[in-house]
Amino acid sequence: MEILLTGGTGLLGRALCEALRNQGHRLCVLSRHPHRVSALCGEDVHALRSLDEWLPTMHFDAVINLAGAPLVDRPWSAARKQVLWASRVGLTEQLVTAINRAEHKPAVLLSGSAIGYYGDCGEASCSDASDATSAQDFGARLCAAWEASARRAEAAGLRVCLLRTGLVLARDGGLLARMRLPFSLGLGGRMGDGRQWMSWIQREDWLAAVLHLLQDDAARGAYNLVSPQPLRNSDFTTALAAALHRPAILPMPDFALRLIFGERAYLLLGGQRVLPDRLLANQFTFRHADIAEALEVSL
Ligand SMILES: NC(=O)c1ccc[n+]([C@@H]2O[C@H](COP(=O)([O-])OP(=O)(O)OC[C@H]3O[C@@H](n4cnc5c(N)ncnc54)[C@H](OP(=O)(O)O)[C@@H]3O)[C@@H](O)[C@H]2O)c1
Repeated sequence: MEILLTGGTGLLGRALCEALRNQGHRLCVLSRHPHRVSALCGEDVHALRSLDEWLPTMHFDAVINLAGAPLVDRPWSAARKQVLWASRVGLTEQLVTAINRAEHKPAVLLSGSAIGYYGDCGEASCSDASDATSAQDFGARLCAAWEASARRAEAAGLRVCLLRTGLVLARDGGLLARMRLPFSLGLGGRMGDGRQWMSWIQREDWLAAVLHLLQDDAARGAYNLVSPQPLRNSDFTTALAAALHRPAILPMPDFALRLIFGERAYLLLGGQRVLPDRLLANQFTFRHADIAEALEVSL
């Protein structure tokens, strides 16, 4: 297949480019830094700086849309929220406009989203069967708008899958890159009361799930990309400390997290118990469903 990716240079995108190239697909990556694409995504990967470079004669069979400015790295000022919104919702709108004007339309759009779509669910389980969110925090509104803009491609006849991704465990970035140092120094511990749920997925399983959705012509709509075994924060942090052979004895109290992270603290103090019901119903098999084993291959 000829595949156009956005966010192909990121933590998930780079690994996905490698997996797709290994399957023989030909790739084109939209990037603000096109000169870095061949080094990050593969020598034979073509780069586009802007969607205006998607010429009417170009033919993509599939589009995978992962771009988005990092959510947790910086405080959520009004200006930062605009960047987070524009890099997801704005870019997806532009992508759908480009799809609409393409002579040869792709058959499928796999578009990013996150389990933040469900907001803070407390003790309730979140299945992907339900499409509506009543959560009103910024992350939930962002995911809902991001998904809605991707769904507009359905009107052009595309099969659209929404990738509601959990916390991705990978060796070279993301959640573990942030947690590894304090936990390695024995300075880690649960956050708040530690009862909040964390729904995670090892990156190899995320890649396998995306390849599965790319190939399954019957797949459409929202999919939870999470392992079938979500954990409470206290259990996750205990497992991480154990994997690093360190104690997890220094809890981070609510007020300290709110002081340090401001509005973003709810990402750490709230949580979602998300289950991958649709993937499991499709006979998808997780290779790394157990947290101890998933951490072992991710650290
Ligand atoms: N990793 C996770 O645990 C996780 C969990 C849930 C959801 N997600 C979502 O999945 C997507 C991919 O995640 P990731 O971890 O691979 O993200 P990442 O490493 O931060 O990469 C995101 C990509 O988005 C592009 N980007 C960054 N800022 C941008 C901006 N201001 N405007 C336009 N493009 C911008 C970058 O591409 P260029 O620099 O080449 O332009 C970058 O490669 C993200 O949208 C993320 O929100 C990730």
